[in-house]
Amino acid sequence: ITINWSKQTAQKSGYKHFMLKEIAEEDESVRNTIQSRISENGKILLDDEISIDKGFIKNIDRITIVACGTSFYAGLTAKPILEKYTGVKVDVEIGSEFRYYNYIYSKNNLFIAISQSGETADTKEPLRMAKEKGIKTLSIVNVKESAIARMADSCIYTLAGPEISVASTKAFVSQLAVLYMLAFYVGQIKGKQIEKKAKMLLSIPKLIKTTFNNTVEAAKKLAEEYHRYKNFLYLGRGLCYPLALEGALKLKEISYIHAEGYPAGEMKHGPIALIDENTPTVVVAHSKEPLYSKSLSNCEEIKSRDGKIILISDKQADIVDETIKMPEVDYELLPFIYVVPLQLFAYYMALFLGYDIDQPRNLAKSVTVE
Ligand code: G6P
Repeated sequence: ITINWSKQTAQKSGYKHFMLKEIAEEDESVRNTIQSRISENGKILLDDEISIDKGFIKNIDRITIVACGTSFYAGLTAKPILEKYTGVKVDVEIGSEFRYYNYIYSKNNLFIAISQSGETADTKEPLRMAKEKGIKTLSIVNVKESAIARMADSCIYTLAGPEISVASTKAFVSQLAVLYMLAFYVGQIKGKQIEKKAKMLLSIPKLIKTTFNNTVEAAKKLAEEYHRYKNFLYLGRGLCYPLALEGALKLKEISYIHAEGYPAGEMKHGPIALIDENTPTVVVAHSKEPLYSKSLSNCEEIKSRDGKIILISDKQADIVDETIKMPEVDYELLPFIYVVPLQLFAYYMALFLGYDIDQPRNLAKSVTVE
């Protein structure tokens, strides 16, 4: 038998691009990240990795998250979950702004840096500054022994495996997994009942796989139809809002199409002016979200301006042009699976446009300079 695969293709395990391979690996990345850290009865086992005193953790009065790019959106997505289970206010800040901003820390502030590479300059500097002020620090990093992993008081590794594609995908869901576990861990220390949700998290890898299998063809078909549009709007509310931002970022990064992510309720304060037959909107909405009917009202406003709508939801809606039908999932856990079709759609858009998906122009995997 002659195998005429290049080394590169072999590493891609038969996938055309690392990006698609890495999206397909998301279930495994999350499984590796959570499996030894959540017990069967829903206890979070992070004591060995978090060296910060439990007395301090009990009394944390604010959490400050700093990151860039997709890691920033992971922080933003997990913010309401962290707030709910820790009972503490969470700020999520962009690294390049934070480093030149006089941030006022609270008395028992926990600082968290999130970075796939562990080398991003704009995340590293805020971490250094926080340490200099004597703030307790924690990092969430994928690359072992990287600077951000070593600098923080404690580091929880995402076990996503190497991420080669410049556009981050499996690192995002693994960062979410760590942030959710952290939320439950602090809750557990504070005596909250977190076991039920923690156990539900254990079922997420399987659901990610189902989502990939159920949406990959639909995302491809939509991309075939929509790749010639020059502008896109992405809308979401609640937990779907940061996903709209991440979906728009993915599209910009690899298909060079202008895309804006917005909280759906903000549409009337500006982006609605952009809507016409040439600007499609991707609406991300879970039917159990408290504001689902309001997201549908947004769809009506878009339709009355001749805008095309792609809905990503567990429920069909007559008013939209296309629906990517999502599996049923607990509302709080939706980010793990709703991001998958957004990533796939961006991937196939770039594929139909013929761009260099794994190495998009002007971008680097890790930005180690300011
Ligand atoms: C670069 C990459 C992005 C990434 C961001 C943050 O801009 O192109 O994909 O999200 O850096 O990287 P980090 O390694 O800190 O997560």
